[in-house]
Amino acid sequence: MTNSRIAGFYALSLAERRAKLAEAFAPQTPPELTSWTTGGLSVETADHMIENVIGLYSLPLGIALNFTVNGRDVLIPMVIEEPSVVAGASFMAKLARSNGGFTATSTEPLMIGQLQVLDVEDLDKAAEQVLARKAELLTYVDGAESSLKSRGGGARDLEVRIVEESPIGKFLVVHLIYDVRDAMGANAVNTACERLAPKIEEITGGRVHLKILSNLTDKRMAKATCVIPVKELAFVGQIGNLSYTGEEVRDGIIAAYAFAAADPYRAATHNKGIMNGVDPVVIATGNDWRAIEAGAHAYAARNGRYTSLSTWSKDESGNLVGELEMPLAVGIVGGATKVHPAAQVAIKLMDVKSTGELAEIIVSVGLAQNMAALRALTTEGIQRGHMSLHARQVAIAAGASGDLIEKVARQMAEERVVRIERAVEILKSLENGK
Ligand code: MEV
Repeated sequence: MTNSRIAGFYALSLAERRAKLAEAFAPQTPPELTSWTTGGLSVETADHMIENVIGLYSLPLGIALNFTVNGRDVLIPMVIEEPSVVAGASFMAKLARSNGGFTATSTEPLMIGQLQVLDVEDLDKAAEQVLARKAELLTYVDGAESSLKSRGGGARDLEVRIVEESPIGKFLVVHLIYDVRDAMGANAVNTACERLAPKIEEITGGRVHLKILSNLTDKRMAKATCVIPVKELAFVGQIGNLSYTGEEVRDGIIAAYAFAAADPYRAATHNKGIMNGVDPVVIATGNDWRAIEAGAHAYAARNGRYTSLSTWSKDESGNLVGELEMPLAVGIVGGATKVHPAAQVAIKLMDVKSTGELAEIIVSVGLAQNMAALRALTTEGIQRGHMSLHARQVAIAAGASGDLIEKVARQMAEERVVRIERAVEILKSLENGK
């Protein structure tokens, strides 16, 4: 049983952190972490992944701690260049943990493939005819051999839409609903659409133009909720006498959410904060983060006005309640997830057995990260948090260890001078004063 609560993790050396990860897995054997220490991907493998390869590009990989998702502790790998994100998510997960952590659900892994049908004479009649032959068409799509079919995936449904207004006038759109099981599924859906296209042309008398999946995967959703006891939200700033009661922080987070709910300018930034949690796990697991971004923002604008993906409110006991629901098409087999050794370690570390389970973890990190940003913005602002993290890094670089890291960092933050020379001076005076 993994224990995701590892106190003082940030203050350890890299080697100590890796050892702690292994301990957290006891008595089970932890995954082999070698590919994380090297970055995982060889240039030779990379050369088979994209075109014109001449090298590799690395990013930091950190572990988000304290997460409990659906009653299971999980250590979450995050690949990201931005400071404060891993720390923010871990801290919010600690607050959520006091009340059982995150509760998350996901739908079946249903993707949508789109066929754009042009030059149809009678759109209503064509739509009717496609729907009348639905069963036959689904059986036909499933007639092709595919590894997904052997894992229980395949064509599930057909929907037909008439686009009434477009720059080229009206046309027909056929949606193929396809269960992709443990894959992200882009290839399977695109192949299935191409197989279906001649049949659709035959039935409608039209011409199938585009045949491609939709990244607005609103049939493949994940949802996380958390309830934070209001007392956990009380905030005492590290600097000066800045402090807030739990009620003040809670109401501040709800007011910040209201801003995002009502205003697209704020919603874009609010949702960016959510994606700060989502993307790093998507990247760590070798998934397509552009697809996830596209789906998230399209979903945020589903009612015609771009808005917040999350909601924040209070329950009858005054606790803060957060909820995030978004499309999340991620896979645990195939694509870069299979090819990239570091992505394989990520899947093993989280011990996820299905794409739904991975999506449930990712949406929980998105919600935690959203709360971290709103809590910081509601209290001391985000710059100070960035500064204290930066100060800790500078303190470590100056040679501080153990308790001294925090002491040196705090003094530099108070003086608002975060420089290695100053860190060395403070460290010396603290050591001499012992
Ligand atoms: C910064 O990367 C993300 C935030 O701007 C998110 C937000 O404003 O909610 C802090």
